Amino acid sequence: MSEPVTPEVIRARLLAWYDAEARRLPWRTGPAEGRTGLRTDPYRVWLSEVMLQQTTVPHAAPYFLKFTARWPTVADLAAAPDDEVMAAWAGLGYYARARNLLACARAVAARHGGVFPDTEAGLSRLPGLGPYTAAAVAAIAFDRPANVVDGNVERVMARLFAVEEPLPAGKAELKRLAASLVREDRPGDWAQALMDLGATVCRPKGPLCDRCPLAEGCAGLATGAPQTYPRKSAKPERPHRHGAAFLLTRGDAVGLVRRPPKGLLGGMLALPTTDWRASAYTEVEALTAAPLPASWRSAGEVGHVFTHFSLTLRLWRAEAAENACVEGLIWTPRRDLDALPSLFLKAVRTGLSSLI
Ligand code: ADE
Repeated sequence: MSEPVTPEVIRARLLAWYDAEARRLPWRTGPAEGRTGLRTDPYRVWLSEVMLQQTTVPHAAPYFLKFTARWPTVADLAAAPDDEVMAAWAGLGYYARARNLLACARAVAARHGGVFPDTEAGLSRLPGLGPYTAAAVAAIAFDRPANVVDGNVERVMARLFAVEEPLPAGKAELKRLAASLVREDRPGDWAQALMDLGATVCRPKGPLCDRCPLAEGCAGLATGAPQTYPRKSAKPERPHRHGAAFLLTRGDAVGLVRRPPKGLLGGMLALPTTDWRASAYTEVEALTAAPLPASWRSAGEVGHVFTHFSLTLRLWRAEAAENACVEGLIWTPRRDLDALPSLFLKAVRTGLSSLI
């Protein structure tokens, strides 16, 4: 008879799998090095965790290497000018995270002499360092038995125990189940083993159960549909909106506006548009909102999905006279259009390529 699948059996199987299969990552001390007592620099653990909350391992890796080459210690990062750090962060998105990163580095430098606190409680008192990051740094850098639960770990728990309560309400139960497997023994490796399993085997769409060290005893697999876990509450349907956008060219330049500072795409460059509303605009309605009377031609449409609604923008295109001056329009050469948010970049490309 096979042995009962207790928490200790689950741990032994997953840690043995990690010893053999751990991903080699630039911020990671592998399990063999870990056994020699080598620990990862907490600065590198913290920096990688902040970046990985933002993006995937392959996208984060070059940023991590760039940051650590340029600012090898937390004190170096703390001393860096804000705009240099923000520029190095560009492409990772969510600039608030970069600001929090700096606030945290400066607190470690100023309040702790450049040494990260070595407990979950101490770490969570640092500014801009949330509960997930505190647990991850405590476990990975200091081998504290912290319960590190990210989306990967939630998915592994939901499948292993076939948790029926849907997310987001089910998070508390998934966290409790994850905590039931944490021990004093190898907590850093345990946290990273769960993350690696979630990323490479217990994948969101196509789990590779035939390669999984936890397949035997996995309640999700026993249901025959492990990929349907974690359950998710039905999302309210995204409303759809319509608008018209105006692509006015003058030679090589395109007429842009700056959007109002508050609201969606606030302060960004954009094409002039109508308001965005539930019903589509008729031609007459659209053209009365155009920035100037001209021989506007229909020039296709673009779709875009925002977090809270989706949008169809119908495009209208016209050529302005050489000397045209339209109040509020910023004439921008085509080669400088990269600063446009992706919706409007897409709209300009579509509009310019349409046959009119
Ligand atoms: N995702 C988030 N943190 C990670 C880590 N330390 N290793 C691998 N994947 C991760």
